[in-house]
Amino acid sequence: MGAVSTTFMAGVEAVRRKLARPIGSLTQMGAIRLGKRTDNRNPAIRDFVPLASLDDLVFGGWDIYEEDCYQAATRAEVLDQRLLDQLRDFLAAIKPMPAVFDRNFVKRLDGPNVKKAPTKRDLAEMLRADIREFKASARADRLVMIWCGSTEAFRRPGEVHASLAAFERGLKENHPDIAPSMIYAYAALSEGVPYANGAPNLTTDIGALNELSRRNSAPICGKDFKTGQTLMKTILAPGLKARMIGLSGWFSTNILGNRDGEVLDDPESFKTKEESKLSVLEHILQPEVYPDLYRNFYHKVRINYYPPRGDNKEGWDNIDIFGWLGYPMQIKIDFLCRDSILAAPIVLDLVLFLDLAQRTEALRGLGIQEWLSFYFKSPITAPGLYPEHDLFIQLMKLKNTLRHLRGEELITHLGLEYYD
Ligand SMILES: NC(=O)c1ccc[n+]([C@@H]2O[C@H](COP(=O)([O-])OP(=O)(O)OC[C@H]3O[C@@H](n4cnc5c(N)ncnc54)[C@H](O)[C@@H]3O)[C@@H](O)[C@H]2O)c1
Repeated sequence: MGAVSTTFMAGVEAVRRKLARPIGSLTQMGAIRLGKRTDNRNPAIRDFVPLASLDDLVFGGWDIYEEDCYQAATRAEVLDQRLLDQLRDFLAAIKPMPAVFDRNFVKRLDGPNVKKAPTKRDLAEMLRADIREFKASARADRLVMIWCGSTEAFRRPGEVHASLAAFERGLKENHPDIAPSMIYAYAALSEGVPYANGAPNLTTDIGALNELSRRNSAPICGKDFKTGQTLMKTILAPGLKARMIGLSGWFSTNILGNRDGEVLDDPESFKTKEESKLSVLEHILQPEVYPDLYRNFYHKVRINYYPPRGDNKEGWDNIDIFGWLGYPMQIKIDFLCRDSILAAPIVLDLVLFLDLAQRTEALRGLGIQEWLSFYFKSPITAPGLYPEHDLFIQLMKLKNTLRHLRGEELITHLGLEYYD
């Protein structure tokens, strides 16, 4: 029931009532080119693949606070109060189930709406019961779970995460490295429910949950929604590389004042976010392939909690680049963005695409859905495979996956036939 999830749920309802448009959502606004450029076939993505319709969606969630979705959205101050008041009945009916929470993973928060049980295994069973109960009472045919909870403290994968057997032993023995987000993911996957991770937490990026995902044909993807500054980075960096322009430094700083900013003010949560934000440039620029252009570039990311700004983040980038004969130049970006406005359509697309993946024979047993990397700062990949961060390659992969599913020709942009 945080800023992102309430903005997502209120937004879907506003669109259903025709009060607003689903801007930023590829599933709702996007088209896909099929066949040759001369064929003029550009169906809407939602007509091309059998996605669930917005009218069929129902919502539920957990939080450590007892506020209902109307109260939580009001506190988050993302959407206009007038709009929230129009949606009040719908929002007030969504009440958070008691959460699985551990302050060792989120130091800055504490709330009363929390489950208590002797072991993490018991907590997982309680979440599974919540899922079954929600499914029955909402009369839903299928479910998808998206983590829109806070960023947890940094953890490296260890023995307990390596296999499902070790993980299940760890649940029984209350292993300290099993985070709440992992318990939710375990519960979802055990119930055959796909799971996407919107935060940079380790969560499903471990052998144990990959194994469970494949075993139960419950797709997974993540991590960390690619929204503000990192979205800009993965738009700009491929362009600089395409033109063989060098980079000597990229300094990024942010101010934000929402609860996410407060959680990220804790060094352990920030470390998780920092790792996620830093890896992007290395992978796009490939210093090992282009040492003259990208060896030893300096990359720094800062996040500063600054309450007056609320959810309206400001991200500055100072980029030191060099061109022909090494002459230096600079680019400055000042992105005055709205974090949850950028994240909400991503949540919607992930719900619809993960649901599609689970209904698709060719995808459901794969576990990791790498074609959804488009939405993430730290895409999960098969072990040993480096992630693809370039937004345009990610989009091509996503669309080619959809073409492949529908038996359409893949688009390679070769195009020699136009000149035959
Ligand atoms: N908005 C963006 O652009 C963006 C981009 C990338 C990632 N994210 C991530 O998405 C997540 C949500 O962002 P937000 O702005 O909505 O944050 P938020 O602080 O408004 O919401 C998070 C909510 O999760 C709850 N929570 C924490 N631990 C929980 C648990 N164990 N069980 C149940 N609830 C729990 C908190 O009480 C809070 O209400 C954060 O981790 C953030 O880093 C957001």
